[in-house]
Amino acid sequence: METYLRQPKIDDPRYDQAVEFIKMYLRGDHDTHDFLRKVNLGCQSLREDYPKAPEVWHISSIIERMFDNIECSKYFIARAIRLGLDEQDTRAILDKYIDEDILWGDTEGYLRQSQSIDTLIEYYVSKAHHYFNKGDFDLADIYSQRVSALNNPLLSQLVEIPKLRDETKIHNDRNTLDQHYKSTIDILHQHWTNIALDNSDVEKNIHKYNGEADRLQMAEEAVKWIRATEKRSPAILEIGCFAGGLLNEIYKSLSSDEDISPRLVGVEPNENITVEAGKLLPHIEFHVGDHKSLVSYGLNLPELIDVCIISRVFSILMPDDVEQTLEFLSSRTHFLIICDDIFNLNGEQTMVRMPSNFFLIHNFRDKLENNGFMIEDVIMANVPHREFTGIIIAKGRQN
Ligand SMILES: C[S@@+](CC[C@H](N)C(=O)[O-])C[C@H]1O[C@@H](n2cnc3c(N)ncnc32)[C@H](O)[C@@H]1O
Repeated sequence: METYLRQPKIDDPRYDQAVEFIKMYLRGDHDTHDFLRKVNLGCQSLREDYPKAPEVWHISSIIERMFDNIECSKYFIARAIRLGLDEQDTRAILDKYIDEDILWGDTEGYLRQSQSIDTLIEYYVSKAHHYFNKGDFDLADIYSQRVSALNNPLLSQLVEIPKLRDETKIHNDRNTLDQHYKSTIDILHQHWTNIALDNSDVEKNIHKYNGEADRLQMAEEAVKWIRATEKRSPAILEIGCFAGGLLNEIYKSLSSDEDISPRLVGVEPNENITVEAGKLLPHIEFHVGDHKSLVSYGLNLPELIDVCIISRVFSILMPDDVEQTLEFLSSRTHFLIICDDIFNLNGEQTMVRMPSNFFLIHNFRDKLENNGFMIEDVIMANVPHREFTGIIIAKGRQN
């Protein structure tokens, strides 16, 4: 990789740190991962402190490239150009990005559409919805990943679905697919089961649901289907509910409605979180357990579930475990709401999202239909991000 740095530089230790990192990276030093995150955070705060300094956007662009967030790298270099760093070599970097990008025809078009990060995000969101509505989930995904990358400069960009499909095929042919899935989710299980939060962090996590577009969309959708059951005391179950933030949003939305008094039940394997959340949310019944204890009837749950919500949990379960959970639920559930990365809905096999074996994306249509569910609706996320691209509503046999 070739790179160059501007003079004069910004006189700030965060800038020096980024330069140091670039040197290490170009030397091929291995232990750069943790440092990269720190440098990335440093660049983020530099951009906030020096929004008009082209050098800051330029060095941020280099760092984003090393972080595999090509979309941010491209936007940042364009920003540096806009702020006056419009020399031939800087232009050449942007031209090269645009040449290699299947979504953009020429640099001028990109510059016109990316006057600000908000206009660019808005453009990608509308394209993602356009292709989603046409049923082209591969393209909808490409645009959605751009949105996610721009909204999260601290996260790398995920690779496109057609490449994941090829990767899945290679693993399948080599008989290493199950190992590929397992190595991915083992890391995630360790992560989720080891998280221990104190009371105030659990409280913060619950309130986080109040302000985020994706959470609000999930809660809104859940409330719509709860109302559609026309029950006075519907039983709502969330599997993998963490601290109950989503159930709590649902509770708040329904609390002004005297005609509905839901039974809200959450199942969560992380005991520490359920104990702390139970103290804060007495209107929610928490059970410590996982999909296995559910399937083996190890929990005292409602016989019939009017609405079951599974948000960002299937992505950390093996394909067989997803199937078993669906089979168990289909005869007991009226509506199932899956909030996840859903762009492999119509695929043939579960795939692994990359880079760094992020999580699994399941071929939900086959899995649902093979286990007694009928898909009722599929809704794209208003603002897609890496872990949530949409919602699937499915009807179980309890209809
Ligand atoms: C990515 S978080 C999602 C939390 C919450 N549903 C949300 O959307 O914010 C994954 C959750 O699934 C839980 N989980 C992990 N393995 C599970 C399993 N086998 N069965 C049920 N839940 C599980 C984790 O403890 C964690 O709370």
